[in-house]
Amino acid sequence: MSHNAESAVKERYAAAAKTPEAALCCPINYEPDLLAHIPQEVIERDYGCGNPSRYLKPGEKVLDLGSGAGKICFIASKIVGPTGHVIGIDMTDEMLAVARCNAPTVAERLGYTNVEFRKGRIQDLALDLEVLDRELKAHPITDVNSFLEADELARELRVRHPLVRNESVDVVVSNCVLNLVETGAKRQLFNEIFRVLRNGGRAVISDIVSDEDVPEEMQSDSALWSGCISGALREDSFLQAFEDAGFYGVRIVERGDRPWCTAKGIEFRTTTVEAFKGKQGPCFERNQAVIYKGPFKTVLDDDGHRLERGKRYAVCDKTYQLYRQPPYGEFFEFVEPLESVPLENAKPFDCSGMRLRHPKETKGQDYDVTTEMSRCCDGGQRE
Ligand SMILES: C[S@@+](CC[C@H](N)C(=O)[O-])C[C@H]1O[C@@H](n2cnc3c(N)ncnc32)[C@H](O)[C@@H]1O
Repeated sequence: MSHNAESAVKERYAAAAKTPEAALCCPINYEPDLLAHIPQEVIERDYGCGNPSRYLKPGEKVLDLGSGAGKICFIASKIVGPTGHVIGIDMTDEMLAVARCNAPTVAERLGYTNVEFRKGRIQDLALDLEVLDRELKAHPITDVNSFLEADELARELRVRHPLVRNESVDVVVSNCVLNLVETGAKRQLFNEIFRVLRNGGRAVISDIVSDEDVPEEMQSDSALWSGCISGALREDSFLQAFEDAGFYGVRIVERGDRPWCTAKGIEFRTTTVEAFKGKQGPCFERNQAVIYKGPFKTVLDDDGHRLERGKRYAVCDKTYQLYRQPPYGEFFEFVEPLESVPLENAKPFDCSGMRLRHPKETKGQDYDVTTEMSRCCDGGQRE
């Protein structure tokens, strides 16, 4: 991919902010109720390929990568409500201008303000491009020394005045943008998504993926790249990129049944992927156990734990808590010890392998209680 790709993307979306470009639009069904408060100028500049806002909840702090004219941010604004917050990031001034200009109308119609738009590159979410711009206007680059000083300033700004702070958002969403980031910066992009999410947060990303590798000559075609086609990751590499960045529970929540377009026999289709942050951290023994309910014979989680259907496994407290939540909760039964072990007294747990937990471990070695049969044959009637 040539270095002009980012300029091509900026140029194309600057123009598409001024005049809607039909070729960049992929028809998506939104609930009309979620659009009623959004001005027509924004609706007409919908360049998304999915709807990650469908997965948001009231009160959440949301970051939208490549927010464009602001449609997903404005939908999110309504869903998260006055206790939530939404930040849109885009690098194209013309798109930011449309979004910012329509934000007061949205706020007035909703009766609260909870959206803001910031200028940045999504593969470098620490660098505030507007602050850098102001500094560079005051101290222009004129020679190699001032270039190096500007480079140093950017590094300082990332630390002192980050555009998006570490672990500061609940959910990162994006709609048809990750594919536009140059190949060499894609790994950094996924790492940045991971960095800004709080522990327990998640990413919900709609994008275009391909079914085969995209050949070099297609990748160096600026029109195909800026049209959200040739920068697409292969569908399995897209999931792998989340895994490589440290996410767990990565899953496809939507996948276009038909291709959005086909070029040289390669199918490009929409997908929405959800990925969770929070598997990192220490492991403690609290005598808990889990049973994988099925339907598969075995499953393997993102920490390498392999579980056979129906067997009772010893897990650390962290894994136990992760399994209780989405996306895992529905697949497990949870066995608490008869006597719970307070976290502050819990010993380290070796999470490197899997071992079965004998029921005596959870009940206690001396447990020998005998009880009456519980009345389960009375059709639920109680006296
Ligand atoms: C295909 S449009 C999608 C816009 C919006 N998400 C929507 O659903 O309508 C891509 C947007 O991402 C922005 N963009 C592309 N690459 C970017 C990058 N590396 N950093 C920040 N914004 C970027 C473009 O300026 C444009 O507004």
